[in-house]
Amino acid sequence: MTLSATFTLNWPGDALFGAGRVDQLGDVLATRGQNAALIVTDAGVEAAGLLGRVTSALDRAGVAHDAYTGVNPNPTTANVREAREMWQAGSYDALIALGGGSSIDTAKGAMAEILTGEEAFASFQRDVDKSDRAVPPFYALPTTSGTGSECSLGAVLKSPERKFVIRGRLLQPTTVVMDPELTLSLPRGMTACTGFDAFAHAIGAFTNNQVNPIADELALASMRLSIQHLRTAVEEPSNLDARAGVMMSSYLGGFCIGQKGVDGIHGLCTPVESVASTVHGQVLSTLLPHVLRYNFETLSGRYALAARRLGLTASDDDREACEAIYDAALDLASLTEAPATLADYGLERSQIPRLTEMALLSQATQRNGRDMPAENITKLYEAMI
Ligand SMILES: [Fe+2]
Repeated sequence: MTLSATFTLNWPGDALFGAGRVDQLGDVLATRGQNAALIVTDAGVEAAGLLGRVTSALDRAGVAHDAYTGVNPNPTTANVREAREMWQAGSYDALIALGGGSSIDTAKGAMAEILTGEEAFASFQRDVDKSDRAVPPFYALPTTSGTGSECSLGAVLKSPERKFVIRGRLLQPTTVVMDPELTLSLPRGMTACTGFDAFAHAIGAFTNNQVNPIADELALASMRLSIQHLRTAVEEPSNLDARAGVMMSSYLGGFCIGQKGVDGIHGLCTPVESVASTVHGQVLSTLLPHVLRYNFETLSGRYALAARRLGLTASDDDREACEAIYDAALDLASLTEAPATLADYGLERSQIPRLTEMALLSQATQRNGRDMPAENITKLYEAMI
């Protein structure tokens, strides 16, 4: 590792990791003098009994609570508004996001609205961190492993017009409770798709054009955990050790997004998600091989370094080492059982100019390790369709 570069580290807040930690949540709030919590979650999490486990923990410590359970799988600005209105109608002193990225992102959107007094979509163009309003304590309890939203500064939301991302230090959960027991009931497909997202975050952060050697080390740790544990977590859902490994890979991936952002894999993914109803991890799986091949043209040394550090190859030849990480990435991608082409998602060639236009606006695209001018993005989409 070289530390001759200039870079910034923004460490996330507290993290409580391990099986059974969710049962301590009430005590954590009570110790901090927090007496009433609003929980943001979805109906699936409630039906799986996970909301009940959280409310039991709060009850035992005498912490009052209500829950907003209306979060959609692709969270909308309407979800955000409803959660924020519920917060403002009560007198809560802690916000708890319980669920996958969708619940955590909805809570972040509500936090943005609480802090700015504006709709979340307006926050998209504003610096949330300039707010001088009091920041409520914000807990995140992930029930999926992959989005990294429990640790990242950003949230992906959907307005009636488009998907958009809001970001801010003040949107980052102040305490994360990572209890792998909360992920044991996650179905096979969701485990694969969310887990692959974490891998895409880590490989994107490691290879993009931002400089942060500490985040790079944690990106490697995240990728290593994905490679060690994701297949087992998919094939043996009750394997707590594998669930814990994938949970930590997600958290570390989220950390890396916060420090460096991601790359063109995500940059080209968001436009597809804006125009088609899709699963994030599947679209990433469809796009990843194309973007890796594109990046290998000028960044083979970087990918080869990752392959060697991950123990995937002993080869000194960069091209060979790139093939090793390509194979490892595609092995994980195959778990998502994603369609092979964008046409399989219902996209048509006539939509490529619009997709390209949207991809160019994305910070992820701009941070890709190899430049992605419009003509190259168009070519990539043409090869994917
Ligand atoms: Fe992602």
